[in-house]
Amino acid sequence: MSDPCSAKRLPTVLPSNPMDWAKAWLDEAVQNEVQRNPNSMAAVTVNGEGQPSARVVLCKEFVADPGYLVFYTNYKSDKARQIAGNNKVALLFHWDSFGRQVRIEGQAVLSPDDESDTYFASRDWGSQIGAWGSDQSSPLESRSALIAQVGRRAMKLGVGAAKNFKAIAVSERPVISRPPHWGGIRVWANRIELWIEGSDRIHDRARWTRSLEANEDNAFDVGEWTGIRLQP
Ligand SMILES: Cc1cc2nc3c(=O)[nH]c(=O)nc-3n(C[C@H](O)[C@H](O)[C@H](O)COP(=O)(O)O)c2cc1C
Repeated sequence: MSDPCSAKRLPTVLPSNPMDWAKAWLDEAVQNEVQRNPNSMAAVTVNGEGQPSARVVLCKEFVADPGYLVFYTNYKSDKARQIAGNNKVALLFHWDSFGRQVRIEGQAVLSPDDESDTYFASRDWGSQIGAWGSDQSSPLESRSALIAQVGRRAMKLGVGAAKNFKAIAVSERPVISRPPHWGGIRVWANRIELWIEGSDRIHDRARWTRSLEANEDNAFDVGEWTGIRLQP
């Protein structure tokens, strides 16, 4: 394939695996630290009334083949509840300094437990406690009520009282297991658009689509990508 990162335009013959291009762009943004969270993406879910809602999450894995992305969240959060009712999701990356946008649409499933366990274990210890401490998306009376709740839950996990969990010596930190209500969400792509900024607003864009068929492994059988160039 031509080099996605040096290409100023999409090739005349559109590449057959646009996910490789998107991953190359993401990797380049991460390597160049183009922004504080170069792997951040907007994730859009839809509620029971058909109302979409968007929020930023971090892309922790981008598997170009067979083609899914992973983010981690609380399974009782608004976004996860919405996905449970309607698993169609849209994702959006924008790297302004590169003049690139990637739009992805697809269907979400929960990541396998062992994958979520492995990722959770790799997280910063304070973030592990944080996952137990917050009932993401639930109403809260005050910031101090949240701090007290986190403290109570940390005590239950065997963590001594501390203003700052990082202040606790590594040798005194109990192992924190993954909360059952926290883990990965895999978004399998069936539509992707690559966009490159052009001068005079004559941008370059193309969209690819493919079929997704749910299989018995909590995954999807995927078809071939078909691409088409779009007017900007
Ligand atoms: C840079 C950035 C990264 C974030 N990463 C995540 C993430 O990976 N997972 C997550 O659940 N929330 C993340 N958030 C918080 C979400 O944007 C959101 O506030 C939260 O998930 C609750 O969303 P919900 O109530 O719609 O479910 C992030 C926010 C920002 C600004």
